[in-house]
Amino acid sequence: MRFDTAYFDAGIRRIGTECEKWDGMIAETGDETMIPMWVADMDFPSPPAIRDALADVLERGTWGYTVSGDADRQALCDYWARRHSVTIERESVLLSPCVVTGLKLALRAVTKPGDGVLINPPVYGPFFMSIRSNGRKVVESPLVCGEDGRYTMDLADMEGKLASGEAKAVMLCSPHNPCGRAWSEEELTAVVALCRRYGAPIVCDEIHADFVYAPNTHHSILTIPGAREIAVMLCAASKTFNVAGLEQSAIVCCNEAVRKAIAEDMAASGVKAGNAFALAATRAAYTGCDAWLDGLMDYLAGSRDMVAAFVAERMPRVRLTPLEATYLMWLDCSALGFTQDELLARIRAAHVKVNDGLFFGEQGRGFIRLNIGCPRSQILEALERLATVLG
Ligand SMILES: Cc1ncc(COP(=O)(O)O)c(C=O)c1O
Repeated sequence: MRFDTAYFDAGIRRIGTECEKWDGMIAETGDETMIPMWVADMDFPSPPAIRDALADVLERGTWGYTVSGDADRQALCDYWARRHSVTIERESVLLSPCVVTGLKLALRAVTKPGDGVLINPPVYGPFFMSIRSNGRKVVESPLVCGEDGRYTMDLADMEGKLASGEAKAVMLCSPHNPCGRAWSEEELTAVVALCRRYGAPIVCDEIHADFVYAPNTHHSILTIPGAREIAVMLCAASKTFNVAGLEQSAIVCCNEAVRKAIAEDMAASGVKAGNAFALAATRAAYTGCDAWLDGLMDYLAGSRDMVAAFVAERMPRVRLTPLEATYLMWLDCSALGFTQDELLARIRAAHVKVNDGLFFGEQGRGFIRLNIGCPRSQILEALERLATVLG
């Protein structure tokens, strides 16, 4: 099978599949004409190898208690070595249900209640929630937006917050959702140096690792010298291969004491991963889907360029953040002068659903996030509608 433009252009009909993106939106708004460009999954079929693996499990006709084994962890290690040049030992991998579960478990293992945890907003909303719901404090070190719309970390500000003890740990989103940055080796090296200087552990969410566009590359925190002892890395096949509904992810932790603490917390709270379908699908994702992913990345890169051209021509007052990674575009609509409520109401009236910039923190005021993980015909229809209210 060829995973070319025609394949991704065809997409897949998802209405009636109990999916949050379409069915959840229709249930919430009652608007069947609305185009969903929000929650971060894609309107493409998952790779055929995953379908086949799931069909094999279905064929078993019995789904009793299941064991996960070395093959599950090895598939992950081989994938990260092949795609991202990272060496991961099988022993360092713990399977967990969702990445957000892993974020919370990692936080609980490396900090104490009341500790400050530094994040770089605007950033994925559950970063705030994960910290607060575990009795830790959010310490914000906002990203700085340059003239060209590209975001960078404010290392001096981060250092101040670590040096004063206000922040005891750092939670990174790498690549960054929603700012689309693929952090460079230099940037990550600087963060690791700061964290080592002030004894702060790093929790690093790398769920978007596979969505980095050339010429950028993904630099896992685990490849940065000095990071392995202090970092916990979270990853999954879920976002890349559109199997988030199966709920399987991994916690990669080379520090044995921290890994043991996480495993004990999982056992104490009954957090368990590895249902039969999720295990089979994830193994297939990591072993037999590279061609599908390469085709997807070509398609997404073309879509990203198409959106940039459209916005420049038809919505000149909207500033698009350069997209180095992820299929989530970050649009600065502040020059239009609307309040956030007006902005969202106008977009709703145009029958498009996007993510509210404020989901990512106060720094997202005036912004929206647009998910381009869908056929180009759908993106173009959504853009035409947006142009009527943001043009
Ligand atoms: C940065 C980031 N982390 C985690 C998640 C969610 O992962 P999960 O569904 O496995 O909790 C998302 C989903 O959009 C995300 O963007």
